Amino acid sequence: MLAKRPPMGFNTWNTFGGNISEQLIIETCDAMVEKGYRDAGYKYIVIDDCWMTGERDKNGRLVPDPAKFPHGMRCLADYIHERGMKFGIYSCAGTRTCQGLPSSFGHEFEDARTFAEWGVDFLKYDFCNFPERADCKLAYHTMSMALKSSGREILFSACQWGREEPWKWMRSIGAHMYRSTGDIWDNYISIRDIAESQFENLPTNASGCFNDPDMLVVGMYGKGNVGDSENRVTDEEYRTHFALWCFMGVPLMIGGDVRTMDGFSKDLLLNKELIAVDQDEECRDPFMVGNRGGHRPVFIRHMSDGGFVIGMFNLSDNRAGMPFIFADAGLPYASGVGLRLTDLFTGEDLGVKRDYFVPVLEKHACRLYRAYLERV
Ligand code: GLA
Repeated sequence: MLAKRPPMGFNTWNTFGGNISEQLIIETCDAMVEKGYRDAGYKYIVIDDCWMTGERDKNGRLVPDPAKFPHGMRCLADYIHERGMKFGIYSCAGTRTCQGLPSSFGHEFEDARTFAEWGVDFLKYDFCNFPERADCKLAYHTMSMALKSSGREILFSACQWGREEPWKWMRSIGAHMYRSTGDIWDNYISIRDIAESQFENLPTNASGCFNDPDMLVVGMYGKGNVGDSENRVTDEEYRTHFALWCFMGVPLMIGGDVRTMDGFSKDLLLNKELIAVDQDEECRDPFMVGNRGGHRPVFIRHMSDGGFVIGMFNLSDNRAGMPFIFADAGLPYASGVGLRLTDLFTGEDLGVKRDYFVPVLEKHACRLYRAYLERV
């Protein structure tokens, strides 16, 4: 089964945009192996837009840009596979990609066969230049069928920006993940708005087909293709970003440069506890316990070991107490049952709590606790 758990990997777009090459992919692959990303679960290396030439060849096939990929895609796929990783590529449901290059509308089956021949394991399928009168759901279903008939197992990552409420139908057409929002930018407001927009759409985020609120911007610090140097994200905000994605149980696609990632960001992306939350096998969505002012959500998420993770996210612009009211989490005082709490970041044991507790969080900060039921 593909995408039993949220897919994890790296994608070129956030940092490199169209500035991609065989050399970059090889160096990225090496860095992911050497620095521990592969072993932490980041398996897919995905080449986004701009890998192809401006026209198809005389047989109607897509052609890798020879200046960027002189040895072609099969060779790159072999390199990646030999190192225990998986190879992803990009096309688009429209007539041209978002950067104006040839894409798959009307060519779905031949393109899927080409990708299979190249050893592709993952297709990101975008939505630019989609013909006005064509049927969007059908177009995604067509590519899904084309991939299934290609003779190779290829994960289908539909990228259609949340148009036509994909959480209601992407699972039914066989996608393994689907973009549910517009593009992320490397600034705090973008991170916050994207996360908040998906809280209510998470119930259908589940094994086999995941809601994809876009790639991570951790470690970009204002540089790169979607970098925003005027609104630099702080370490604390990157921590909240990554914790939110893990807590929601969504795909983790690194968008920063793994070759040069700073120590803080690397440790964050490799945080075993957070990754374990993201990859929990029951893939449950969190239950919202409260959300003061709309920007201070407090959740409890049921985990497969019988315990829970409590997530508190102070997304507001002020320092704030974040009340966790046990009665609102299904545990009234009279139940005689409390929760033993351990801080997921520090490992600190907070003992058994009941009734309520109110940690104070700085603006844009988060807390996560592992929690287990205990009689008191
Ligand atoms: C769209 C997608 C992005 C990226 C670019 C490439 O904007 O949403 O993730 O793939 O196209 O052009």
